[in-house]
Order: sequence, then C-alpha cells, then structure tokens
Amino acid sequence: HAGHDMGSAPQGAAVLPEGEALRELPLLANEASTPGLFKAKLTAQSATVRFAEGLETPILGYNGTSPGPLIEAVEGDRVEITFANRIANEASTIHWHGMPVPADQDGNPMDPVATGTDRTYSFDLPEGSAGSYWYHPHAHGKTAEQVYRGLAGAFVVKPKVDPIPTSYGDTVLVFTDLRLATDGTLPDNTMTDLMNGRVGDHVLVNGQKNPALTVPFGTKRRFRFYNATNARFLRLAFDGAAMTIIGTDGGLLEAPVAADDILLSPAERLELIVSFEKPGRATLNTLDYDRGWMGAGRPADAGLTLFTVNVSETPAEPVPPLPDRLRPIALLGAPAVSRRFVFTETMAMNASGMEMGFLINGAAFDMNRVDIVAKAGEVELWEIVNKADMDHPFHVHGTQFQVVEHERDGRASKPAYLAWKDTVNVARGETVRLLLRQDRPGPRMYHCHILEHEQLGMMGMVDVR
Ligand code: C2O
Ligand code: CU
Repeated sequence: HAGHDMGSAPQGAAVLPEGEALRELPLLANEASTPGLFKAKLTAQSATVRFAEGLETPILGYNGTSPGPLIEAVEGDRVEITFANRIANEASTIHWHGMPVPADQDGNPMDPVATGTDRTYSFDLPEGSAGSYWYHPHAHGKTAEQVYRGLAGAFVVKPKVDPIPTSYGDTVLVFTDLRLATDGTLPDNTMTDLMNGRVGDHVLVNGQKNPALTVPFGTKRRFRFYNATNARFLRLAFDGAAMTIIGTDGGLLEAPVAADDILLSPAERLELIVSFEKPGRATLNTLDYDRGWMGAGRPADAGLTLFTVNVSETPAEPVPPLPDRLRPIALLGAPAVSRRFVFTETMAMNASGMEMGFLINGAAFDMNRVDIVAKAGEVELWEIVNKADMDHPFHVHGTQFQVVEHERDGRASKPAYLAWKDTVNVARGETVRLLLRQDRPGPRMYHCHILEHEQLGMMGMVDVR
C-alpha cells in the first residue's frame, strides 16, 4: 500500500494526435502446420511507443506491441504458446482470462515465470468455447503495473459454424488508458491511484487515440469491445449509428438485443453489430457513470470521443440480415451449494501510515490460504454482496458463469438477457447472484478486476477437487 506522489516526470498532460486511420491489431501467426494446432511464442519485454514526434513512451509489450497481438483460434483447437518473460527483474505469467484451461495452465499467481525464463502453456479449446477472451499477466503484486504498462491482448476463439454473416467483418477494439506526462513518460502511482485504481487521461483504442474508420453507408459491422483498462468504467453510446448486442465474454447471446448505451466495466467484453444507416459522421462517446470514487479528483468520464467512423455517401453492397436466433443457452441447473462473498473497504491509521484494506469476507488475499473448496462438476450459486463505496467488477477464473439476479435496496431484478460471462460489475450497495460450475480441478482465483484492488487483497482462491 505504499504510493508516492512525487513522480520525477514533468507535470501536465501530453497531447496525443487523433483521427489517424484505425490500425487492425497485428495477428499472432500460427507456427504450426498441423491442422487443429495453434503454436506460437509471446515475449513480454520493454518497448517504446511513439505517439507523436518527440513523444516517446516506455511501455511493456507482447512481441513489441501494446495491445499485444490478436490471437485467433477455432473451438476444438489445441493451443501451445511459449511465453518468454524478458521483463527486467520481474516475474510475470500469462493468464488466459475467461478461458476454460486447466488450473496449472492458467498463469495464476501461484505459478510465476521468473525473469529471463520461458514456459509453454498448453490447453485444448473445447467445442462450444467460442468467445472473446483475453490474455494478461497475473504475477503476485505485479499484475496492475504490468497490465497498465501495456501487457494485454485479445484472444478470440471462433466457432466452427458462425451464425453472423461474414460480410459484417469482425473487428476487435481493445480499450486501454494511460496518463502521460508532457514528455510522454508514465507518472508514478499516487495514493489515489491505488485506492481508486489507476485511471489514465487518454483512452486508447488498439493503442490509438480516437482513431478513424471509413465505411459505406448501409454497412453493418461486427465489433468486439474489450475493456482492458485497470480501472476505468466505460459507459458508451454511438452518436449516428445503432448498436445491437450479440455476445458477451463467453460468446453469443441467444438473440440480438438493441442497446442505446452499454456499460463495459474493467475486464468485460461485448460483441456488437453496429449499423451505419446514414452518410456523415458517427462517433463512439463516453457517458457519465459514477462508479464511486474515494478522495478528491474524480476524473471526468463523460463526453470523450473514443472512435470516429466516417460514413461515406457510397452505399454498401446489400448485406444479409442479422439472424433472430444466435444460439441456445441452457440455464445451469439447480445449485448444490450456495456461497456468499462480501466486499468491503477499510481505512485505518497505524504506525506506518494509512492502511487500506480491500477485502472479501473480511480477509485480504493470502497465497497460502485456500478460501473455499468446491467440487468439480457441481453447480453453485454465488452471491456477491458489495458493501463498499465503489463498484467492484467481480471475475472468476477457469469457467464462465450466468448472472441470474441483481438486488438493490431490497428489490431484485433479472438481467436483460441470459449470457455467459466471466466478469460482472457489482455496483455499490448491490448484490449479484450467479450460477457457476467448475469442471476442472485445481486452484482458481476470484477477484475484483480493478487491478489495484486485486493487488491490495480483494482476491480469494477456490480449490476445485
Ligand atoms: Cu483478468 Cu485474475 O484476471
Ligand atoms: Cu475493486
């Protein structure tokens, strides 16, 4: 919990260029020639981004880029990815966020990869596992800093048969954010950053500020939105285009759902179809969302334009309609066990200064403690109770879950749609109930995905036997 306010970087904020053409994420090449095998290498190391002339930012990248290369595999594939940790003096891991991988391949904090060493992660992608996953480090006490400095990438698992017309394309947009001093360097964390999670001044889309795309009018485009920021809640709306939600973290919904705006909390993903029905300019903008803030300096989060689409006068070729039904989702059966997890924040002065606690059921994370034991294959009901002053996005490793109820001020409501998710926001004062089943044995983490809160202890471990 030590932070320092005295950065060596110059004060003030850098100005980043906007409106450059959107760069597609570089694709991680498959080195295997055997069908059904995806084999590659990811190296984490220092890199430099040049946002503008004279504005060079030291970051961490996977294979030199941030976000890291886009991984695309198909359900049924076997994956073998060798991770080379070339981060100076720091352990790291690769955690396959949301993916149904064995516990010993999950890159959790119990399994660090020392600096200068390599390790290969291997796992099979089961049938039915198509979804929008991601990858990022998860070394004990290092996750927040390494992710913030640039280590995050998208991992898309495609279905064998896709109900969405291929003419809609499939564009991944990874949102990250950074605070930059005037010389482009990243200022050190302040105490406020640790309490609230570090929120940058610039929201980047695939590493660019407000990039632009040109499409003919009448275009329907499929997007996958990733919130890969440490702590920024993105409430988003398009001005000049219509959004339809078709999928969540763990893949497609049963049916499309039209949305005026969406809330993407840290680590969440959404799949959307965006219709550009009239020529002109469509922009993706942030709306205000109060997720709770401790201390002074809550950042302004409304009115930022993250992404611009220039819709040309030329009409698009006619495209097939979006199907009414996407795929069936069966509700997980009656739970055999119920568990309750209570989030609290504590503040206390002691001899060494201010002590902050971000706790689950009154305890901070301890690597050597098993918090709960669960049975593989058994459905459980988890009740996440947020008694804290901030929203906390809750994430469980190793499986996808189904949110069945939200409760607030004694009033319960069902979510707008049934979906597979691995991260759900639990708003201040809210209780979220979810059904989940872990199918593979081993230790699994569950935690708040405001990564500074994870670091300060808002994490636990379930041992699946
Ligand atoms: Cu995205 Cu435990 O993490
Ligand atoms: Cu939190």
